[in-house]
Formats: sequence, C-alpha cells, structure tokens
Amino acid sequence: MSLTPKQRFEKALNRETTDRPPIWFMRQAGRYLPEYKEIRKNKTFEQMIQDPEIATTITLQPIKRFDLDAAIIFTDILTPIYPLKIGLTIKQGIGPIIEKPINTPDKVNNIEITTPEEHYSYLIDEVKMTRKELKKHALIGFAGAPFTIASYLIEGKSTRDANKTKAFAWKYPEKYHELLSKVTEIIINKLKAQIKNNVDAVQLFDSWANYLSPKQYEILARPYVEKILNNPEISKKPVIYYSRGTSHLIEKISQLNVTAISIDHTISISQARKETHEKFVIQGNLDPAVLLSTAEKTREETMKIAREGRKTPGYIFNLSKGIDKNTPLENVEIMVNTVKQLQEA
Ligand code: CP3
Repeated sequence: MSLTPKQRFEKALNRETTDRPPIWFMRQAGRYLPEYKEIRKNKTFEQMIQDPEIATTITLQPIKRFDLDAAIIFTDILTPIYPLKIGLTIKQGIGPIIEKPINTPDKVNNIEITTPEEHYSYLIDEVKMTRKELKKHALIGFAGAPFTIASYLIEGKSTRDANKTKAFAWKYPEKYHELLSKVTEIIINKLKAQIKNNVDAVQLFDSWANYLSPKQYEILARPYVEKILNNPEISKKPVIYYSRGTSHLIEKISQLNVTAISIDHTISISQARKETHEKFVIQGNLDPAVLLSTAEKTREETMKIAREGRKTPGYIFNLSKGIDKNTPLENVEIMVNTVKQLQEA
C-alpha cells in the first residue's frame, strides 16, 4: 500500500487501515527549529503571523525537514483577538499578554465579532498560499475553544487556575454567557474561513479546560464547543478536540460530536479508547519530556506508543502537548523515523 501523507492522514481520520500511523506534532513550527529561530531573530511574533509569505514558509519548515504527514497553519489561537484592540501582544519567553482584559461585565459590550475576511485577511492568504504548496500532505487548520479563549480575554494571560474566569462566570452569569456566545461566533468564523480554503481537518485547542470540574465543564465550556461542532460548514470536516490533564472530564468529552480527540500522557491510548466507548480516532500521547532525554529512550517510548496506537485503526501519532523549545533535533528525527519504520515492521 503506497499512500501519500495526505491519504494516510485522511484514512486514519476515517478509521481505515494504514501502512503506519500518520505523524505530525504540536508546535512543530516553533523555537526548537534553527530555521524558525533564524526568522524570529529579526521579527516579532505578530510580524511573522501577519505576513502570509513568512507564515507560509514557517508552516512548511517542519514538513521540509522531516517530511511529516501533516502541516498545521502557523498562527495562534489568539489571532482573531488582535482586531479587538485590547492591547494583545505575544511576548517572547512569556506568552500572550492583554493590556485591557475583559474584567468587568460592561466590557463585554465592546467585543466585536471578528471575521478573517474583514479583520485579519492575512490568515486567508496564508491558508491559500500554503495549500498551493502542499498537495500531497495534509493541512490542518485550528482555533482555540471558547472557554480557553475567554480565559485569555478575562485574565489577560495564560491562566494557572482559571480562578478569575470562574469568578467572572459566577458573579455575572449572563455576561459570561454573552461573552462565550460572542467568542464562539468569532471562532466559528475563523474555522469556516480555513475550511473554505481547503484545510483537510481542524483542531480545536481547549488548553485550559483541565481547570474545570465535570459540572463546571458542562455549564461553562461544553455547550459552546457543541455549538461549533454543530455548525454545518464545520461538521463536514474532521474535527480534532485537544485538551490536556482532562482525564476527569473524559465522560463529558466522550459526548462530543468530534472525529478525534488528542490526548496527553496522563491517560493511556487504550484507556482513552475504552472510556470514550471507542467513539473517536485517538491522537497523541508521547510526553514531550521524552525527547529531552536520550536517543534510546526516545526510540523506545515512541515505539511503545505507536504500537499501542496502531492496534486499532484510527490513530494519529503526536505528542501529548507542544514540543519543548530545548528539544534536540536528533531526537525529533529519531521519533519521526521510528514511526516511519513501522511501515516495514
Ligand atoms: O503547532 C504549531 O506549530 C502551529 C502554531 C501554533 C502556535 N500556537 C504558534 C505559537 C498553535 C497551534 C498554537 C496554539 C496555542 N497558542 C495554544 C494551544 C496549544 C497549547 O499549547 O495549549 C495556546 C494556549 C496558545 C497561546 C500562546 N501562544 C502561548 C501560551 C504562547 C507562548 C508559549 C510559548 O511556547 O512561548 C504563544 C506563542 C506562540 N504561538 C509561539 C508559537 C510558535 C512562540 C512564539 C515565539 O516566541 O517564537
């Protein structure tokens, strides 16, 4: 069976048998790559994502170096937030900072429903340019999930506990839900634009859902994820739902109408399959810390996970979260080659 990377990725998402699991990994275009750092030296993050040519080059860097099966558009979950003029910048080594967060209920009124067409067309240009370059490989679009994006708007930075977000929701429930409804529309617009321009799948990053109890998730997060998933233009494409540290939410997650879930290393692949009633394609779950160790350990752990994953059709090799910026390139190569060698095994 000779499959193109794109066919391999699509078949895995369809739960068809493949020669080997497809592989891509989160933050594959990022600071562990010398060619990324070379561009980053003279540019801010914003200058890189807002220039379609530069962003396309960065999206393709890991494909050129490692011939992965899928590329993920180089942008950020917060891209649709820049046009809101609340002072968002992504600072090197720190992450996103919002100068004027939505920390009082009246500020919700100021939130405009942004669209890529009107407010950040550079993303559309990037998707078009990348798709033109990428015929045989899969292309993944993405967005943040509503609760995660709302936590940035309310707290103004990456949260460590979601305390301010929850307090806002409990003090001003109506305004919280109004905010989440607006954010959901913003996300739908971002996903639709990427789908219109022919990405093969989209991933929804719910990075801070781990701070919610199952009951809180049910009220503060899931209804808005569902709203996105029920959008007819979005549901015609495979959707991958990513969260981490959410084993306690797995029953709730199992109710989502998604194609795949991306899991971290706090749960095994077989356990995740079982607890989600075999409903989903599974993506993940190599701990990126492994790649900071030895070649031998990298080979061994990659092999274990890839073998466990491919026991059942419908598995995509990935890390459990974004690759660490100090990862040696040799270990990335070993990981990629180990998965590729399964083809002959
Ligand atoms: O994965 C990829 O290669 C595609 C591009 C991508 C980026 N951010 C580029 C980026 C994706 C998919 C994201 C998603 C994202 N952004 C998430 C969800 C995934 C996760 O890790 O939970 C979140 C929470 C964000 C918000 C964000 N943007 C943070 C917390 C940071 C700082 C983290 C860091 O590694 O410094 C960013 C900046 C960012 N987004 C960088 C990259 C490559 C680093 C920019 C730099 O300084 O060079």
